[in-house]
Amino acid sequence: MKRIAESHQGSFFDAEASGEYLNDAKKASKTKYRHFMATLKKLDVKGKYLEIGSGVGILTQDIAIQHPNAEIMAYDILSEMTELSRQDLSEDLRKRISYETGDACDENSIKDLGGFNLIYSAFTLHHWDNAELAIKNLYSLLNDEGILYIYDLKRVMWLYYIKSESGFFNSIRAAYRLSEIKKILSKIGIKNYRIRTILPFFIQSVLIRK
Ligand SMILES: C[S@@+](CC[C@H](N)C(=O)[O-])C[C@H]1O[C@@H](n2cnc3c(N)ncnc32)[C@H](O)[C@@H]1O
Repeated sequence: MKRIAESHQGSFFDAEASGEYLNDAKKASKTKYRHFMATLKKLDVKGKYLEIGSGVGILTQDIAIQHPNAEIMAYDILSEMTELSRQDLSEDLRKRISYETGDACDENSIKDLGGFNLIYSAFTLHHWDNAELAIKNLYSLLNDEGILYIYDLKRVMWLYYIKSESGFFNSIRAAYRLSEIKKILSKIGIKNYRIRTILPFFIQSVLIRK
């Protein structure tokens, strides 16, 4: 069950597809992010947040509302995404959310973003060209006792072999297995972490503490 990394980014480039993506994100069931939001609520990290792969920014807004004192930098490799994210923000959210474009895998793009108390990412790990480098870069941006929380799909056999080329199944094939994540963390030298499989078993979270 080899990992099939593929580029997911092409479809986000044209304005029409991005618009569709925005509508889908708005409609995305609360269940998709329920566990993720509940974990962030429980962690209740104070201070500065960095969201990696923020897409069209709907999740960013939900998190800003759930954490009314947090300042959030939303960061995405595609400027089209960050442009869409800026639309329709309330005044409060406009003050607390900033947007940056760049590549989490590129140290030069990320090194001057500042220090963060919480860095999180949802459904993005399997998109990163070099996950080891991205995690290393993000870890280096954590303030003391900061948390890096990565939430993504998991490559499971029962979905991997379903004969469908839809985005969801391709993403499952590009996602990581638990052993692969452990190997990456061990190569970077990160020891203080917890990986959890989340219902319905094809989602996993990695919580790293500095
Ligand atoms: C599947 S979308 C998820 C968006 C959002 N997190 C959500 O849950 O709706 C993946 C996002 O990651 C972004 N992305 C992919 N590779 C990236 C990288 N190396 N650095 C920053 N963002 C990246 C893509 O442009 C895209 O917006």
